[in-house]
Amino acid sequence: MAEITCIEDLRCLARKRVPRMFYDYVDGGSWTEYTYRANEADFQRIELRQRVAFDITERSTASQMVGQAVSMPVAIAPTGLTGMQHADGEILAARAAQKFGIPFTLSTMSICSIEAVAEGTGRHPFWFQLYVTRDKSFVEGLIERARAANCSALVVTMDLQVFGQRHKDRRNGLSMPPRPTLRNLVNLASKPRWCLGMLGTRNRQFGNIVGHAKGVDGIGSLVEWTREQFDPRLSWQDIVWIKQRWGGKLIVKGILDPDDARLAVECGVDAIVVSNHGGRQLDGAGSSIAALPAIVEAVAGRAEVHLDGGIRSGQDVLKAIALGATGTYIGRAMMYGLGAMGERGVSTALELIRNELDLSMAFCGRTDIRDVDQGILLPGRR
Ligand code: GLV
Repeated sequence: MAEITCIEDLRCLARKRVPRMFYDYVDGGSWTEYTYRANEADFQRIELRQRVAFDITERSTASQMVGQAVSMPVAIAPTGLTGMQHADGEILAARAAQKFGIPFTLSTMSICSIEAVAEGTGRHPFWFQLYVTRDKSFVEGLIERARAANCSALVVTMDLQVFGQRHKDRRNGLSMPPRPTLRNLVNLASKPRWCLGMLGTRNRQFGNIVGHAKGVDGIGSLVEWTREQFDPRLSWQDIVWIKQRWGGKLIVKGILDPDDARLAVECGVDAIVVSNHGGRQLDGAGSSIAALPAIVEAVAGRAEVHLDGGIRSGQDVLKAIALGATGTYIGRAMMYGLGAMGERGVSTALELIRNELDLSMAFCGRTDIRDVDQGILLPGRR
């Protein structure tokens, strides 16, 4: 196997090893994929300011996110169908994050359940991402399950009350489990490693939902389930209600506008995540990194500002921190590592990002990630 040097290498390997419909689910955005591309492209336009002759012997990428120590300001983003990139994917990614000293966020739309991840990680705390459904007893149940599993933060996603159309998923007929069409069977036959893994696990359904949501004994399609179940009336009152009910660290995700950021702060959230859902929802929206500075200004230190979308390298993390984020999240970078090599692939993705973050920080003449500010960016190219 060729040397893995960057996240792109992991993506290429994942593309070979993961069944087409699940790979495409990750490497895709909604409609024209403009926003999906802009998330990455806008990072590349920001230029760094090289400095020399500083003592850069001792360096640290350690920081905090919502008051919790992190070995670098990167968390694993909540991603749906993680356990379809690799058998037991959520457990493996959570273990890699635990060993690395960063938070793992489990999606409501995961394959391995909250309980399975808790058991598979020795009840090490992780974060849980919550979707607000019409059935509030299901939401209450998820909150209680997250508490029982020792979760140390709740991340409420606010930008998926309706589903952006992803052409690739429609063309592939994305379904759970894959339908036994000739095309799917031929494709699965070329992924023996994946198939063997799946045969060896019981985690093959939406573990948080099946058997927990009223009347749901199987979900064929994510799109159908969200259309029927997600509450299109989601409001800031729901966030206040969740905050009271949960009582712990609360993060809201999917904020792209300074006005929404202010409203979130008024609800008393601990952090907001500047996010366009990885370019998977409102295509045509601006990139996350472009939205960050105005949101940091609007929040004015009253809550932490995190960012996801387009992070494929340590330099992207560094640029987001320089522009005022306290933390970042990786979704696709983790999924590519997982699809490529399971837990080892996720650990590799994290190592690659940390090395690049550490070295790039040093090239900019800084030694502590907590001291990084706009001064490391070239003026006019921020
Ligand atoms: C779910 O969160 C998705 O983006 O598919």
